[in-house]
Amino acid sequence: MIGGGQLARMTHQAAIALGQTLRVLVAGPDDPAAQVTPDVVIGSHDNLEDLRRAAEGATVVTFDHEHVPTELLEKLAAEGVTVAPSASALVHAQDKLVMRRRLDALGAAIPRYAPVEGPDDVDAFAARVDGPIVIKAVRGGYDGRGVYLPADVAGAREVAARLLADGVPVLAEERVRLRRELAALVARSPLGQGAAWPVVETVQQDGICVAVLAPAPSLTDETDVAAKQLALRLADDLGVVGLLAVELFETTDGVILVNELAMRPHNSGHWTMDGSTTSQFEQHLRAVLDYPLGATAPVAPLTVMANVLGAPQPPAMELDERLHHLFGRIPEARVHLYGKEERPGRKIGHVNILGGHGGSPDDARYVANVRERAERAAHWLSHAEWTDGWDGHD
Ligand SMILES: Nc1ncnc2c1ncn2[C@@H]1O[C@H](COP(=O)(O)OP(=O)(O)OP(=O)(O)O)[C@@H](O)[C@H]1O
Ligand SMILES: [Mg+2]
Repeated sequence: MIGGGQLARMTHQAAIALGQTLRVLVAGPDDPAAQVTPDVVIGSHDNLEDLRRAAEGATVVTFDHEHVPTELLEKLAAEGVTVAPSASALVHAQDKLVMRRRLDALGAAIPRYAPVEGPDDVDAFAARVDGPIVIKAVRGGYDGRGVYLPADVAGAREVAARLLADGVPVLAEERVRLRRELAALVARSPLGQGAAWPVVETVQQDGICVAVLAPAPSLTDETDVAAKQLALRLADDLGVVGLLAVELFETTDGVILVNELAMRPHNSGHWTMDGSTTSQFEQHLRAVLDYPLGATAPVAPLTVMANVLGAPQPPAMELDERLHHLFGRIPEARVHLYGKEERPGRKIGHVNILGGHGGSPDDARYVANVRERAERAAHWLSHAEWTDGWDGHD
């Protein structure tokens, strides 16, 4: 796997159960995945020699991020390395303009957009949209980095000009009025077998995913099926091998639009580690290794995943002690920590809480209860603070 973040770390965890070892190409020995697998290649994802060293003798090369340059992947493939997803598929997750043009061509509904080559393009697009717009870096963004929500057209011109001056290609997009954000996660094997998990709701704050509700509460069967079918069709049309996450917007008018694509394990699928028969990490391995795919059925009526995001001020209490307290108070919490240093807003782990049997994702009180426990646990782990003021020493 190219990249050694938490996604590679958790993929290695799944690989162990399949009798496999995941080799990782990482920037350094402290990377989350390098801490846990014995097979570590230190190097850079944009250096061909390093990629070759990582690929040598491997069954298949896959990714924990989308930042490997397309040309290098094409070179590896030409040298006989199996790359999954292939460069021709992956480019649709790397380049937001290529992605949008292809989604348009395939008839998927997306927000209106335009490439921006200079500040005048921003004016022209803003006039056409006649509403707020978003400026996005075409490549290289993650966790909301590279996404700008300027207050007005002048602000949008400014951001675009700055990015362009730095050599970053830019696009403008209409700012959608959101009811909520959803995600459809599917897998596709080389033979074309597909598997879909239930469509989930992703809760975002400042461009970062903070929680996932699986399945999405009060989603009609019709929307669930339509979104899954769309994701499976896109996986097929784009020739994806491995996972495909389709990030979706549900507008205030109830329309579903595609926001973007990712071809790797995705934050919206972390709930599957405890909440589904097959986790997304195992499924990604099964797909790229050309095994039959695993069952995607949820094991509880609702699973809520809450990200542990580094607090503005890391607490004095050690993380280990926080974990100890958490287990004392919420024994059902399923904790996944990434071995990352705590920094403000950084994803350092996540917590899954499974809802009890007999509940329903259409019951707002049940959903609120499960969500509250997950968010309370995650907030405790990052802040050493109980959101309800509870004091364990009382
Ligand atoms: N056109 C839009 N209208 C409204 N909100 C938007 C729009 N585009 C992006 N956003 C908000 O910004 C968030 C991040 O945007 P996007 O998914 O494009 O960026 P990213 O940094 O590539 O994301 P990721 O964190 O998934 O890697 C979205 O989840 C959404 O909350
Ligand atoms: Mg996104």
